[in-house]
Amino acid sequence: MDFKRCDTTIAWAALQGHYEAHGRDLDLREAFTRETQRFEAFAVQAPEVFADLSKNRWDLKTRKLLIELAREVDLEARRDAMFAGAPINTTEGRAVLHTALRAPRGEGPFSDEVHGVLDRMLDFAEQVRDSTASGIHHVVNIGIGGSDLGPQMVVPALDAYAHPGITMHFVSNVDGHDITPVLRRLKPQNTLFIIASKTFTTQETMANAAVARQWFLDQGGTDIGRHFVGATTNLAAAAAFGIHTTFGFWDWVGGRNSLWSAIGLPIAIAVGSEHFRALLAGAHAMDRHFAMAPLEANLPALLGLLDVWYRNFHHFTSRSVAPYHQGLKRLPAYLQQLEMESNGKCVDLDGQPLPYGTSPVVWGEPGTNGQHAYFQMLHQGTDVIPVEFIAVKHPTHPHADLHAKAMANCLAQSQALMLGKSTEAALGERAPTASAALGALTVARHRTFPGNRPSTTLLLDQLTPRAMGALIALYEHRVFTSGAVWGINSFDQWGVELGKALASDLLPRLTAATVDGSGLDASTAGLLARLKA
Ligand code: F6P
Repeated sequence: MDFKRCDTTIAWAALQGHYEAHGRDLDLREAFTRETQRFEAFAVQAPEVFADLSKNRWDLKTRKLLIELAREVDLEARRDAMFAGAPINTTEGRAVLHTALRAPRGEGPFSDEVHGVLDRMLDFAEQVRDSTASGIHHVVNIGIGGSDLGPQMVVPALDAYAHPGITMHFVSNVDGHDITPVLRRLKPQNTLFIIASKTFTTQETMANAAVARQWFLDQGGTDIGRHFVGATTNLAAAAAFGIHTTFGFWDWVGGRNSLWSAIGLPIAIAVGSEHFRALLAGAHAMDRHFAMAPLEANLPALLGLLDVWYRNFHHFTSRSVAPYHQGLKRLPAYLQQLEMESNGKCVDLDGQPLPYGTSPVVWGEPGTNGQHAYFQMLHQGTDVIPVEFIAVKHPTHPHADLHAKAMANCLAQSQALMLGKSTEAALGERAPTASAALGALTVARHRTFPGNRPSTTLLLDQLTPRAMGALIALYEHRVFTSGAVWGINSFDQWGVELGKALASDLLPRLTAATVDGSGLDASTAGLLARLKA
C-alpha cells in the first residue's frame, strides 16, 4: 500500500523538536496572558458546532506543524479517496462510504440504492408511528456494537422530538439479564422487534432474536412477519429466520458508521422521517465541511491532529468526554466503539508493527454526574487527561434555572482544570472541614490543584436532529483523520475475532455433562471447572 508513515516525515521530527522546546512545558495560564487573541485564534466554527480549542496545550506553531504533517501524509488525498469510494478498507477490500448514506438524492455514489432503501424505511417508520393503525407501542431493537450503539445513543439525545406513545428498548448483551427485564414488560400484540445485524450471524444478536421469537410465540403472539423486521446486508439469512420485511444496506457501510443506514430504523421510528432526514442533512453538512474547508479551519481535521499531538508527543493515553446534556448520556459508549474499534491498531497499512501509540482510551459520563465521581482524578490525579466538554446553548426543557446551573458547571470545570490552585492560594483560604490536627501547609498541599490541564469545549446551539447529525459526523471524520495520520486501517476490526473463536471452543465445554479442560491453560481450565462444579 502506497502511503507515507507519519514518523518518517519532516513534520514529525519538527513536532518532536517543538514539543521538547515549547510543548512539554507550555503553561496555559501564561499562554492566555501572553496571547491576548488566543481564544479567537483557536476558535473554529463548523456546521452546527462551535469549538473552543484554546484551552489545549498547543500553540500556533504546533498547529502549523500538525497541518504540515497532515499534508505530508496526504490526508486530503486519502479523504478524497474515501468520499470517492476507493477501497480504503484494504484488509477487507472494501470502500468506506457511509458519507453516501447522507448525500442528497442524486449526489453521492449509489444514490438510487441508498435513497430507495431510505424512502422505503421512512415510509415503514411512519406506518409504525401511526400507532392507532399499527397497534405498536413498543419497539425492541436487538443488535450489538454498531447495530446498537448508534440508535441507542441518538434516540435519547433526540427525546424532545420523539413519538410520545412509542417506547424504544435496546437489547444487545448475550447475557440474559439484558432481554429478560425488557420482555417482562411487553405484550406481543403491541411490540415490534427489529433484528439489526449487518452480517445476521453475530452470536449475541442471533441468540437474543431466537429468545424474542420464542417469547413472542409462547405469549400467544401471531404473525411473526408483522412483528419482526430486519436491518441487514444478509437478506437471505433474515428470510431464513422468518423475517419478510427487511431493510438492506451494503458492505461499504462499516458497523460503527451505520446509524445512517437501515440500522437507523429505531431512530426513524422514534423521531419520524422529517427529523431523520434532518439528521442526515446535518451529517452531510459536516461532510462538506470536512471535504472542503482548508485544514486550518477544518474542525474534524484539527481535532484529529490534536489527538495525534496528545497521543504521540505528550503521550496522554486517554481522553474523557463530558457532555453537559443528559440526552448525550450514551455518547461516550458510542465513541468508544467509533474510536477504539477504528484506531485501536498496532500495525500500519503494510502490516508493519508501529513504534508509536494509536487510539487513546475514550471514556466519560454526562456532566454534572461525572463531577461527583471521577473528576477528582482529572483535577488532582497524577495523569493528565484531556477533557472534551460538550455544551448546548438552548435546552429543550423549560427549566432555565437548571440549565444555567449545568452551563455554569461546564464552564467552571474547564476553567478549574486550566487554572488550578497554587499552594499559596490554598494557604490563604479557610478550610473549615479540614482536620485541625494537621499543619496549615499540609492541608494546603492537599488542597492544591496543579492546573494546566487541557480541555476542548464543543458548543451546539440546540440538540436538534441536524445538530446531532453534524456532531456525529464530526467525530467520524476526526477518527478518520488520526487514523490516516497513523497510517492504519481504521475500518477493520480483526481484534474482535480471537475472543469469538475461543468462545466457540469453550461453549460446548460449558454445556457438556462432564468437565473437559484438556488443551486449556491452567487458569481457564480452573475457572471452567468452578463454573461447572
Ligand atoms: O464487534 C465486532 C462487530 O463486527 C462490530 O464491528 C459490529 O458493529 C458488531 O460486531 C455487530 O455486527 P453485526 O451488525 O454484523 O451483527
